[in-house]
Amino acid sequence: MTGPADLLKLKAHIAASYPDFEANVTKAWKEVIDELAVVTETISEQGANYLPQLEFADLSDLTEAQKTEIKSKGCVVIRNVIEDQQAITWRHGLQDFVAANPDVEGFPSEDKQFSQLFWTKPQIEARAHPNMLRVSTWLNQIYHYDGELARDGAVDLSEPLSYADRLRMRHPGVHWDIHPPHVDGGAIERWEDPSFRSVFKDIFEGNWKKHDPYDLRGRINAKSSLHNRVGQATIFRTFQGWLAISKTAPTEGTIQFFPNVIMSNVYIMLRPFFRPLVPADSPDILKAESWQYDISTPDFPGIIPRDSGYTGPRPTPDLHPHLRLEKTMISVPKVLPGDTVFWHCDMVHAVEAEHTGKEDSCVMYIPSVPLTPMNKSYIERQRDSFLKGIRPPDFPPGIKNEHEFIGMGSAVDILEPAGRRAMLLPVSVA
Ligand SMILES: [Fe+2]
Repeated sequence: MTGPADLLKLKAHIAASYPDFEANVTKAWKEVIDELAVVTETISEQGANYLPQLEFADLSDLTEAQKTEIKSKGCVVIRNVIEDQQAITWRHGLQDFVAANPDVEGFPSEDKQFSQLFWTKPQIEARAHPNMLRVSTWLNQIYHYDGELARDGAVDLSEPLSYADRLRMRHPGVHWDIHPPHVDGGAIERWEDPSFRSVFKDIFEGNWKKHDPYDLRGRINAKSSLHNRVGQATIFRTFQGWLAISKTAPTEGTIQFFPNVIMSNVYIMLRPFFRPLVPADSPDILKAESWQYDISTPDFPGIIPRDSGYTGPRPTPDLHPHLRLEKTMISVPKVLPGDTVFWHCDMVHAVEAEHTGKEDSCVMYIPSVPLTPMNKSYIERQRDSFLKGIRPPDFPPGIKNEHEFIGMGSAVDILEPAGRRAMLLPVSVA
């Protein structure tokens, strides 16, 4: 594991790697604090109205202004991707599956709601559904790359891949505080891995307004898991996402976002290089003059040692006061079965602690994954796990293998050519 001495060296290394680092980031830090004062005010005033929403049927007809808005906010609700009845049928299929297989592992163990399942028929069918793949393609194509990456078709944003993740069927009334505001897809790796760090080069050069979270350079070779931490995804997802298979509304255990991925990236990446000169509860904590450039400590606020590596970033009101998280974590508006929610891989997101509704809130996690060399190599290994009926490579083996459960899906359940290609299976069903 990387220890405090390594983290201190890492900070010094970054500071030495960019010309006039201290002067440039100090200027940027002040500007970012000013900008965040405006952005956070707007977010808290507008609430759910701030989150972009659109209909699946309108996907091809968006204006440039709508696309720009989705890009800067980093999240989008896309409605009616799947017909209601199909989504409800999948939910019933999952409920029946869990009932027929009481030994499926899940959390919390005494009343499982977050199930360690990857290869049930509803999941396989949902990932392979042409509309889900069409949405994935559209989201992947929000990103861009230069010609060199396109060589030999090694990167193709029009070819979506299927990443097998799990599902949630959350019961009403259960308090759930395991998902406070956080960013997935790499913790200390964001600073530590040279390719990952290059994604944030403009920020470290002080040109934070140029930061483009949709440039694939750097990202496609970024190592999001340098410390073999269990449960850390190793694939590159352009957007994480879920498909609702039940109604879920605010206060019913839905997802929340800090809806400005550009500003949260800039702030979180610069934060380790500054320390407050006043206590966290001081009325002056938000003032730029209350902060000072400092690389003399190994602190990376919000990066937390876990297992063999680190988890986070986990911004908190104390550690990241300018995000004003207590006012700016916005719950996604009510969704119905067949609606989807997607969020950029750098997005600060959380899951509501309370579910005060009357019914289970159910989603299948289905991210957008483009064809890149690193992703392809993962999906090849994932396909082998699928064919053997065992958990995908990013996840620890279960007490039972999935093929031992009653009613598990298999390759013959994927009929559409696009769905089979996304799993790197032969296009025709054998
Ligand atoms: Fe997450």
